[in-house]
Amino acid sequence: MSSTILHLPTVDSEDTKNANIQSLFLNYWKAIEEYPSCIDLGMGMPSPSIFGSELEAQNEFVEGRQLWQANYQQQAGDRNLREAFSQLEKQRTGISYTAENVMIVSGALRGFSLVLDCLTRKKTHIVEIVPTYPLLAGQVRNVLERLGGTLTTIIPKDTKTFQITLDEVLPHIKSDSVIYLTNPNNPTGIYVPDNVLSKIIATCEEVGAYIILDEACDIPLNLNYNQKNYLDSPVVIRILSLSKTYLLAGFRLGYIVAHPQLIETFSNTYSFSDGNAPLIANKAIMKYLNTPHLMPFISQIFRNKVKLASYRFSKCSSITEFIEPEACFYIFLKIKSSKNSWLIFKELLAQGINVVPGCLFSVREDPWIRVCCCHEDDILIDHLDKLSKALDAL
Ligand SMILES: Cc1ncc(COP(=O)(O)O)c(C=O)c1O
Repeated sequence: MSSTILHLPTVDSEDTKNANIQSLFLNYWKAIEEYPSCIDLGMGMPSPSIFGSELEAQNEFVEGRQLWQANYQQQAGDRNLREAFSQLEKQRTGISYTAENVMIVSGALRGFSLVLDCLTRKKTHIVEIVPTYPLLAGQVRNVLERLGGTLTTIIPKDTKTFQITLDEVLPHIKSDSVIYLTNPNNPTGIYVPDNVLSKIIATCEEVGAYIILDEACDIPLNLNYNQKNYLDSPVVIRILSLSKTYLLAGFRLGYIVAHPQLIETFSNTYSFSDGNAPLIANKAIMKYLNTPHLMPFISQIFRNKVKLASYRFSKCSSITEFIEPEACFYIFLKIKSSKNSWLIFKELLAQGINVVPGCLFSVREDPWIRVCCCHEDDILIDHLDKLSKALDAL
């Protein structure tokens, strides 16, 4: 039997402008593997010790105690859990969701790929906005290769905070469009303003397009939930994750919120691609949902870390700009350098520091990097000092 060798495009690390996002992402992990003892300001997740005993519930996950169950359940997930998420979403948006609006998925990324699989046809036209999250951008390209369709990538003119304007986006929304965006944006941590998002949604609804909102990083630094009734549209598909909001990255837990008819389509497709619903940790998740002070507590810690890091960035002369995030714990920085972000990333690695280069988010013109600032204060200060020195020496 003859074997086939798959020839994947390789990336010349200097040529990040034309590199394809999938191979760029793999190269990123390969580069990191070469420097295993680097300090981690890159993809890192917060250390649970920052949150002390408040994260007791997480032990149920980590140690897999009685709150886990070996079982099967219907593909959209346990009804009680779906109901509980619908109530959480009602509180966050003001929309009267029910269990029929919710499907449990194994992480936001599987939620996103499932939705794409269900919506993409040969004539589908996907619209994305830079900066975009590499794993979403890669999935979009994979699905277009498999199922056909076209892609438009919009690069906002605003190079300070990357905010999209209606003039830039509305002309691309047609009847066969599927627009996707991360809200809040990762890496900038900024939300699309309500008036812009509501107009985009209204336009999608008018022409019969869909909009996928990846809200995986939606843990605002100031938790005051505004009414978001404009999200209540049959063309809006929201994807949420427990990775950031409850610090459960790695457990692959998330949920989709959409019109009941879409939820039915997604869950039917899911049962014949993935089988039963993912992780049966319903009681453990419910424990999180029944600890209402947990999310405000996590958000407050993120706020303090972002404040501390922002102050230090404002003192570093090699950082020409940085974006104050409204959510989560990443900060996107522009570096004073004629090198591109990939080269800066490689040079920082060689100096023992791991960050995420902006080119992974499709920001390829200027040298931006993303820094994770959720570490214990003393560690964070130490790491940021090392980063500043390394940037000054570039
Ligand atoms: C925008 C965005 N989408 C998806 C994910 C991944 O979510 P999950 O771990 O639930 O798949 C992340 C993780 O950081 C993210 O920032």
